[in-house]
Amino acid sequence: MADYKILMNSFITPWESANQFQEDFIKTVEHKTEGRVKVDLFGYAYGVKGGSTKTKHALNDQFDADLLIDRSGTMLAFAGHIVRTAALRGIQVMNYPVAFDECKSLDYQIAHEIGVPVPKTILVAPHKVAKFVVAKKGERQNKHKHEVNFESVIEELGGLPLYFKAAHGGGKANVYKIDSWAQFVNQYIQVGGSKQMVAQEFIDFDHYVRCFSLGDTTLKVKYDPDAEEGNRYKKDLNHLSHEDAKLIDEYIYKINKHMGYTINTLEFAKSKKDGVWYAIDFTNGCNFDMRTCELGEELYTSALHSFVDMALDYVYNPRPIKIMNQNFSMANNRLLERVKNKPGINLARFKHDYFKIKEEMTSLEQHFK
Ligand SMILES: Nc1ncnc2c1ncn2[C@@H]1O[C@H](COP(=O)(O)OP(=O)(O)O)[C@@H](O)[C@H]1O
Ligand SMILES: [Mg+2]
Repeated sequence: MADYKILMNSFITPWESANQFQEDFIKTVEHKTEGRVKVDLFGYAYGVKGGSTKTKHALNDQFDADLLIDRSGTMLAFAGHIVRTAALRGIQVMNYPVAFDECKSLDYQIAHEIGVPVPKTILVAPHKVAKFVVAKKGERQNKHKHEVNFESVIEELGGLPLYFKAAHGGGKANVYKIDSWAQFVNQYIQVGGSKQMVAQEFIDFDHYVRCFSLGDTTLKVKYDPDAEEGNRYKKDLNHLSHEDAKLIDEYIYKINKHMGYTINTLEFAKSKKDGVWYAIDFTNGCNFDMRTCELGEELYTSALHSFVDMALDYVYNPRPIKIMNQNFSMANNRLLERVKNKPGINLARFKHDYFKIKEEMTSLEQHFK
């Protein structure tokens, strides 16, 4: 009989190779712990090889687990709900559910606020928002019209080329490199008219890294984003200077702390122009590249073992569930700083609510008496 249980929801994919990680994870955990930790794999609605299927969840349904590792919450709303519910129910969850709110515009903003360099980024309003105008006879009309000043966006981003990408995207879907004004306008009309897009300064880089962040361990791998699939990760593991590695670790620590990631895959590009490491993509909680055909045998095995060790560490050394957003203090310190000396401001309600939250946090201490 196993003493501990890890739940893992499955990565929904049509590719057989993507199941590799889930299967290897189960085998490795059970082998390393001599069966004391069991892994239950489950999928949603469509089923999963070697696991069970979850098609519904009622309010009183229980989760029997010491840890839930999420592999699909960012892609499937149902999975996101299950994982959030599990956290509410006192199950340690990787990743902490705030990660489901992934949205490029907000992600770049958070990174900017916490001092991690990001390319200049502008959120561009889509034009297919219903714009009501009063028509002749007083009836309402839907008018689709855009008023984006493309010249000023280009100018603010330091000129062309630039990147134009979907705020809610992943896997390079709806990511465009824009070389001309006409292409920008055209792409905006085609995609940016209905999707929320961000326009971003192009970083011309001479070094690119993709980092697998697994709890306290990070594998920083040299990466060529423009190479064919299977050839993007480079074998050379000593490609970073001590200073660069330290700086990237610092950025990763900050991003993960403020965005609630235990597991994350992050990309940084070192600009040819100013030598600064810019965070390009840093909200990939499910880690879809975990397969040998993508990473190669050596890197895959190393990532797999780091992953398993981290998961077991959380099983044996549980951490608090940070259901309260980590940005709480940062945002509220700023708010108080701004308003405290303003006339007519009453902080009584703020104080009341704050102490209530604090009291709730303090109630945990009874467990250590
Ligand atoms: N600002 C940028 N400068 C240079 N290259 C970029 C920039 N933004 C994106 N890219 C390139 O486009 C790829 C996909 O963009 P990314 O933001 O990672 O989208 P996704 O979340 O879909 O992976 C990156 O891996 C990188 O090669
Ligand atoms: Mg990416």
